[in-house]
Amino acid sequence: MEGALVFNCHSPVMPDPVSNLTPVPTDADYRRIAELVYVHSRISLGDGKRELVSSRLGKRLRLLQCGSYADYCALLAGPGGAEEINHLVDAISTNHTFFFREKKHFDFFEEVVLPQFHADASYRGDGCLRCWSAAASTGEEPYSIAILLALHAEKSPGFRWELDCSDISRSAIESARSGVYPDARIEGVPADWRRKFFQKGVGSQAGNCRIKSAVRAPIRWHLMNLFQEAYPFDKKFHVIFCRNVMIYFDRPSQEWLVQRMSRLLLPGGYLMVGHSESLSGIHHGLQMEKPAIYRKAPR
Ligand SMILES: C[S@@+](CC[C@H](N)C(=O)[O-])C[C@H]1O[C@@H](n2cnc3c(N)ncnc32)[C@H](O)[C@@H]1O
Repeated sequence: MEGALVFNCHSPVMPDPVSNLTPVPTDADYRRIAELVYVHSRISLGDGKRELVSSRLGKRLRLLQCGSYADYCALLAGPGGAEEINHLVDAISTNHTFFFREKKHFDFFEEVVLPQFHADASYRGDGCLRCWSAAASTGEEPYSIAILLALHAEKSPGFRWELDCSDISRSAIESARSGVYPDARIEGVPADWRRKFFQKGVGSQAGNCRIKSAVRAPIRWHLMNLFQEAYPFDKKFHVIFCRNVMIYFDRPSQEWLVQRMSRLLLPGGYLMVGHSESLSGIHHGLQMEKPAIYRKAPR
C-alpha cells in the first residue's frame, strides 16, 4: 500500500515540512468530528465552528501525516480511534484561563465562605474544608484557590483543607500538575504573593516560575470527564468551582451536570459558575446567592 505511506495516520511521526497546509473538513467530516466530540465530552460545536476545528486540529493532522479529514475520520473509526478521541478533545477544548479570573468569586470565598466555615458548625462538618475545581485547565484557577487556602491556614491554626482538581484535557492537567508558568502569566498575582508562593526558575527555566510545593502538594489532580459515569470522590464538597466550561455544553448537558454537582455539595455548600454562564431555565434546586454563585440549602 504505497499510497498509504503519505497518509499513514497510525504512527505519529514528525510533520513533513513541505506539506504544511491545513486541510479543511468537508460537511460530512465536520459533522462526524463534531458528533464524536459531543459524545465524548458534551462540548457542543454547532454548525459554525468549522474554522476553529480546522485551525485547532491542523497541527494534529500534520503530526499524524493525515492528508485530509477523511483520513483522520478513518483513523477515528479504526482500532486506534478510542485513544485518538482523547487527542481530538484535547485539541478542540478551550483552555484559556488566568490567575484570580473573575475576582468576585475569590472575594466571596475569602469574605463569606471561610468565615462561615469557622462560624457555622453545621456547614463545617468534619472540620476539613473541601473544594473542587471541576474544569481546572492549566491550573491557574486551582492555584488561586490554594493560595487563599494556604494564607488562611497561616492565620487559623488547625485549619485543614483539601482541593480536588479535574479536567478532561491530558495536556492541561499535566501542565497544571507541574505548576510551571512563564513569568508573564503570574503578573495578575499580587507581588507579595508572587514572592511568597512562586519560585523563580534559573538556567534552562529562566523566565519561568514554579508554584511552591507547600501549595502544590496538598492538591489532588484527576484526568476526568465531567460526564463520565463515576467520579473518584468519596466525600462531598463545601465549594465547587465549575467556571467557564458549561458555556461549551448544550442546555440538557448543563442541567444534568448542575444537578449532579448539587448532589455533591454539602448542605450550605456553594457552586460557582462563570459570570457568563446563566443557570436560568435550568432545574437545579440551588438558590442564587449572588450572580454566578449558587447555594445548596443549609441543614
Ligand atoms: C476555558 S477553561 C476554564 C478554566 C477555568 N475554570 C477558568 O474559569 O478560568 C475550560 C476547561 O474545561 C475543560 N473541559 C471541557 N469539557 C470538559 C468535560 N466534559 N469534562 C471535563 N473538563 C472539560 C477544558 O479542557 C478546559 O480546560
